[in-house]
Amino acid sequence: MNFELKALNTSVLINEKTDALVVFLTSAFKPGKDVLSTLITKVMKAGDLASKAGEALDIYRPAGLTCSRLVLVHVGDGAAKDVRKAVATAVSTAKAAKPRHMTLCFLHNPPPQVMRVAVTSFAEASYVYTTTKTKAEGRSIQSAAFMVPDELSLRSEFERAVATVKGVELAKEWGNRPANHATPTHIAQAARALAKLPHIKCEVLGPKEVAKLGMGAFQAVAQGSEEPLRFIVLHYHGAAKSLAPVVLVGKGITFDSGGISIKPAAEMDEMKFDMCGAASVLGVFRALAELQPDMNVVGLIPACENLLSGRSVKPGDVVTSMSGQTIEILNTDAEGRLVLCDALTYAERFKPRAVVDIATLTGACVVALGGVRSGFFSNDEALSATLLAAGDSSQDLCWQMPLDDDYAEGLKTSFADVANVAGRAGGAITAAKFLQRFVGKSPWAHLDIAGTAWKSGAAKGATGRPVGLLVDCLMQLGQQAKSQ
Ligand code: BES
Ligand code: MN
Ligand code: ZN
Repeated sequence: MNFELKALNTSVLINEKTDALVVFLTSAFKPGKDVLSTLITKVMKAGDLASKAGEALDIYRPAGLTCSRLVLVHVGDGAAKDVRKAVATAVSTAKAAKPRHMTLCFLHNPPPQVMRVAVTSFAEASYVYTTTKTKAEGRSIQSAAFMVPDELSLRSEFERAVATVKGVELAKEWGNRPANHATPTHIAQAARALAKLPHIKCEVLGPKEVAKLGMGAFQAVAQGSEEPLRFIVLHYHGAAKSLAPVVLVGKGITFDSGGISIKPAAEMDEMKFDMCGAASVLGVFRALAELQPDMNVVGLIPACENLLSGRSVKPGDVVTSMSGQTIEILNTDAEGRLVLCDALTYAERFKPRAVVDIATLTGACVVALGGVRSGFFSNDEALSATLLAAGDSSQDLCWQMPLDDDYAEGLKTSFADVANVAGRAGGAITAAKFLQRFVGKSPWAHLDIAGTAWKSGAAKGATGRPVGLLVDCLMQLGQQAKSQ
């Protein structure tokens, strides 16, 4: 989809040739003397549009305007979350008429974050998955123009939003693909395709190289499947090689059956989404290619399937991780932490400024936080503050969870240095405590996106989260590096 940012003035607005013209109204609306203002005043007086965020009124061929239809939508006081709701309503109101082009205008310049949220939520509301359908209709909307009175002051925010959308949509595409269309090999091809973009490089390691590195935990998960594992290394070079990179690590389980500790059949199909952490890393690199910030970023993706066969790892097996620590695999369904721990050890070679891993790691995190906020854990206060702020500015929210050492008690075992599971209590936290053992000296954060990476039920599908959060976080870290 194409996005455009245009300067708003009344005559442009009245003469805008578009399938649907969306006008955002705030409680502070002051009418002018033009036809549109007169119409809005009438609507308000008649009580045809409640002044509540998300309320909309659809008007067909409004007199005096060149648009095919006008959608007036209230945004309350204009807060980011209200604009998000308003955009979703506007798109679903206009959708029935299959618009190809839409124009959305703010009568007053919105705050920068709100501009960004308007663009990202527009993309979200109009997204359609088509890859594995033969008669898919796809997205009717081909282009969207956003109008604001002072477009210059919002241009850079707008560009960040458009770049974020590209990243989010790449993450959704890979998240949504069925596991037989998104094998570790396919994910590696997607990463290689990114390396065609400016300043991006990609290396892919296979079973032999991974064995040589001694990634025994990662190998143990992959060994039950016929699909060969892939360890993907992406580099974005936007600054001098001497500048320490931020390393992103994405869990890339392309299908999680649970292994020998097999999952129940109901909803097992959703475990094709168990590579959404990896997909978010691909998405972030797509956005970096657009934004070209002057920083360095490394993306690591351990990708494999977690299946059952005569070669599968068994409960009670002890494996040696790349760090040298031995792990007793008490539950083969706690596989995410096993692939991540070796990737975290690998991350150390880059002497990173910060390491952030992203994983659909625990059902316990879904119980704790639901689908609104991703859980995050961190050993560093500054990084925590940056993540929390990035969540707010991108409206891709997260919430900090604890890392007290007492939570690690349950991981003790007589048969190895550590077990891969503790009891049921605090499951998201014990998983994070397991990962923390494999983190070097760098500031580290772990994002558990099990509740936020996809939606179940009628609206089943990948959300593209937390690409928005990560893009804002990286841009913030890039800024901080410069001011140091
Ligand atoms: N991929 C799952 C986590 C998950 C479960 C995400 C449900 C979204 C919805 C992960 O590999 C897993 O199976 N975790 C186990 C860990 C347990 C065995 C300690 C879980 O959460 O049940
Ligand atoms: Mn699992
Ligand atoms: Zn999993």
